[in-house]
Amino acid sequence: MSSHVRPTPLTDHHYDYVLSVGLREPEVLRRLREATALLPDGEWQTAPEQGPVLEMLLRLLNARRVLEVGTFTGYGTLWMALTLPPGGKVISLDVRPEFPAVGQPFWQEAGVSDRIDLRIAPAEKTMDALLAEGAAGSFDFAFIDADKENCVRYYEQCLALVRPGGIVAVDNTLWDGRPADSANNEASTRAIRELNARAFADERVHLCFLPFADGMTLAGKR
Ligand SMILES: C[S@@+](CC[C@H](N)C(=O)[O-])C[C@H]1O[C@@H](n2cnc3c(N)ncnc32)[C@H](O)[C@@H]1O
Repeated sequence: MSSHVRPTPLTDHHYDYVLSVGLREPEVLRRLREATALLPDGEWQTAPEQGPVLEMLLRLLNARRVLEVGTFTGYGTLWMALTLPPGGKVISLDVRPEFPAVGQPFWQEAGVSDRIDLRIAPAEKTMDALLAEGAAGSFDFAFIDADKENCVRYYEQCLALVRPGGIVAVDNTLWDGRPADSANNEASTRAIRELNARAFADERVHLCFLPFADGMTLAGKR
């Protein structure tokens, strides 16, 4: 065990405290989060404490163009769309139209549906198409949170699509601790382990591994 100070363990009580003093969640986002939590796969949604991190990153980057890989019901999508200036765009990718359909009324109610460009197709294909049409280096920020087995491919595609100085954020890089367990060889765990190793060795980026929520890695493109 390393000798540095350990992070404060996040009990349920501490987590509630963090949200009570740290989460300024617009009401429409709270309602979308609560509606999503009722779905059978509701635990897939981005954690509420990640919303302000996405917002802060977009503000620091003066972001206008954002790529999201994995929309689900669009909780993260809506946080980011609400942060963008008029004319800004979140291009959000998913394969299952029934999930974004849950979020779309909330996007409309929030008045930012014109800032969300939803593309229903395998993310890999949509990003290949974006690259083929000359969108390399045109995004300020990318957020990867889709099928974990393909996260290395998505990392490479997003890195090509983001401009120098932009950031690629990858969600679930802790994956409940499984990548640290060498006996775990599930396809998703292997992919995240490979992604973590690749990002760590990647001289093309500045690296920041945030050990909050289920782990979120920031790769800042040099
Ligand atoms: C963890 S959820 C995303 C959560 C979302 N970021 C949020 O803010 O709540 C993962 C999503 O990735 C989508 N997905 C899975 N495989 C995909 C693929 N090959 N291409 C695009 N999206 C995919 C799923 O349909 C699901 O909606």
